[in-house]
Amino acid sequence: MADQEPRDYVAVPGALQDRVILVTGASGGIGAELARNCAAFGARVVLMGRNVKKLESVYDSILAAGGPRPSIAPLDFEKADASHYSALVDGVRGEFGHLDGLAHLAGQLGEVAPIEHQDVVTWMRVMHVNVNAAFILTQALLPLLRLSQDASIVFTTSGVSQRARAYWGAYAVSKFAIEGLMQVLADETDTLTSIRVNSVNPGRIRTSMRARAYPGEDAGSVPLPSEAMPAYLYLLGPASRGVTGRRFDAQ
Ligand SMILES: NC(=O)c1ccc[n+]([C@@H]2O[C@H](COP(=O)([O-])OP(=O)(O)OC[C@H]3O[C@@H](n4cnc5c(N)ncnc54)[C@H](OP(=O)(O)O)[C@@H]3O)[C@@H](O)[C@H]2O)c1
Repeated sequence: MADQEPRDYVAVPGALQDRVILVTGASGGIGAELARNCAAFGARVVLMGRNVKKLESVYDSILAAGGPRPSIAPLDFEKADASHYSALVDGVRGEFGHLDGLAHLAGQLGEVAPIEHQDVVTWMRVMHVNVNAAFILTQALLPLLRLSQDASIVFTTSGVSQRARAYWGAYAVSKFAIEGLMQVLADETDTLTSIRVNSVNPGRIRTSMRARAYPGEDAGSVPLPSEAMPAYLYLLGPASRGVTGRRFDAQ
């Protein structure tokens, strides 16, 4: 199974049965689709995001589809301090006791502009949301992931994470950093733990971020978030046991 291409994975019913999976960026785009898919395959999902109304709408859609009751964990990465992270950890521990999956989908595009014109405050915000918050959240949740028999952390990377391009600024730099975080943590957890750590490049996906990055593009020609699901479901479920430290293209 370890040689399977994640993008070709077909999850069987119940593939994530009883797993507890926290999804960041669950309020919209790829994260909302992933949250709904995790629940459809049996997971109890912790919906994390900053917009409670949008999280409630995802919550309702999961219940309407007959999925296990999810949990909502509002957190704005730009405003969160240590007390917010420890309250989150206490909440997950109190409700579920442990965590089997952590899928990082939250992210910001920042400005598509030359380095010379990148706004410094925006740059720092992108680096904070895309990199620092992913690190802080992962660190805070590691004790709960260690309590799982089979835990999976999935970071979300991008097409500009290994070979950057002009004007992708803080976004590209943040995705290089996410690859580094994934590799460091995968190496640290490699043999001693039941935690695996990987990254997924979703490819071009029809979301509000994509529309901001390519305002002139015909949105109808861009694949829907469902196209990225097989890779994430593969990495979050038992089929990927033993796979760690790798970067996958979802398309
Ligand atoms: N779409 C693509 O073509 C594409 C391609 C490659 C990689 N990606 C990556 O895929 C991931 C998901 O992107 P997407 O296309 O689904 O984008 P999206 O629709 O803009 O969703 C981004 C998510 O991140 C959340 N978020 C942003 N700032 C936050 C903050 N300060 N605190 C907490 N949550 C915050 C958003 O919450 P709100 O709903 O409150 O805004 C939203 O849920 C990102 O990491 C992106 O870099 C996307």
